Amino acid sequence: MIRKLTAGALLSALMVVAPFLIADQARADDPIVIKFSHVVAENTPKGQMANKFRDLVAERLDGKVVVEVYPNSQLFNDNQVLEAMLLGDVQMAAPSLSKFGQYTEKLQIFDLPFLFKDMAAVERFQNGPAGQKLLTSMEDVGLLGLGYIHNGMKQLSASKPLLVPEDARGLKFRIQSSDVLQAQFEAVGALPVKKPFSEVFTLLQTKAIDGQENTWSNIYSKKFFEVQEHITASNHGLIDYLIVTSDEFWKSMPDDVRAEVDKALAEAIAHGNKVAMDKATGDRAKIAESGRSTIHELTPEQRAQWVEVMKPVWAKFEDQIGKDLIDAAVESNM
Ligand code: LMR
Repeated sequence: MIRKLTAGALLSALMVVAPFLIADQARADDPIVIKFSHVVAENTPKGQMANKFRDLVAERLDGKVVVEVYPNSQLFNDNQVLEAMLLGDVQMAAPSLSKFGQYTEKLQIFDLPFLFKDMAAVERFQNGPAGQKLLTSMEDVGLLGLGYIHNGMKQLSASKPLLVPEDARGLKFRIQSSDVLQAQFEAVGALPVKKPFSEVFTLLQTKAIDGQENTWSNIYSKKFFEVQEHITASNHGLIDYLIVTSDEFWKSMPDDVRAEVDKALAEAIAHGNKVAMDKATGDRAKIAESGRSTIHELTPEQRAQWVEVMKPVWAKFEDQIGKDLIDAAVESNM
């Protein structure tokens, strides 16, 4: 009798619990989905890196992890993506280093005009102890840097030739959301306006702004050169990216899976950096060939004038960034 009751009770209990057990099992087998949101075209260093990362993860993680890439600000623009990440709506992104001002003052270092003499210096700084320490500079808000990826040096474009700083006076320039970049344009008497990347083409086309600063690959892939008659090969600053995730998401992955994802990411970064090098020269050449925009080289004297007017911006941000960090970046030029 007792036995019968127990068996009956067990059966009823199982009938109640079984659907939940099955649902739990299904959840355990579901892949971990990494939504990777970015704002640029797919034929850019960042776009190529993200796609390579997606493909490597698909190849190696046997369906345990799936990377979904959303390019061209399809999912979020750079002003929204970090907030979305903290809410768990997106798991990875690679905003330009100029877009973290709300979360840390330290990364402003990368916006200081005329700081790095070339991309090799940038690479030395990022891979050195100071650059590596910056990856965790937003841990207190729950964001974790997983690595840097290059785009390249910025060029100035405008509706008129910009050869000396005086040429930029009174012109409206779109800038990324960075106070350093605002100060940089104010230093030459220009009018900077902070706008998302997704709006730049239309702002230029409708002449709501006169100019902007960007890398060769962004100017080419987003067709800014078709609506800007003049580009100055100024190399006055940098657009590189921080690949970022939420600390909570990153730690929620099993150790072995996280290690594989991390490895795939490192390989994707190496691929993206190679694309960045190729595009810096290749996309510049395509713009030149198009005949839509005139590319101006600066003489050493003209360049010295830009440096003289823009470099005082460093002192304004020295307290926020830290002198040690600026010194480390300067040393990477040697
Ligand atoms: C920009 O806003 O101009 C760039 O940061 C876009 C990008 O991600 O390269």
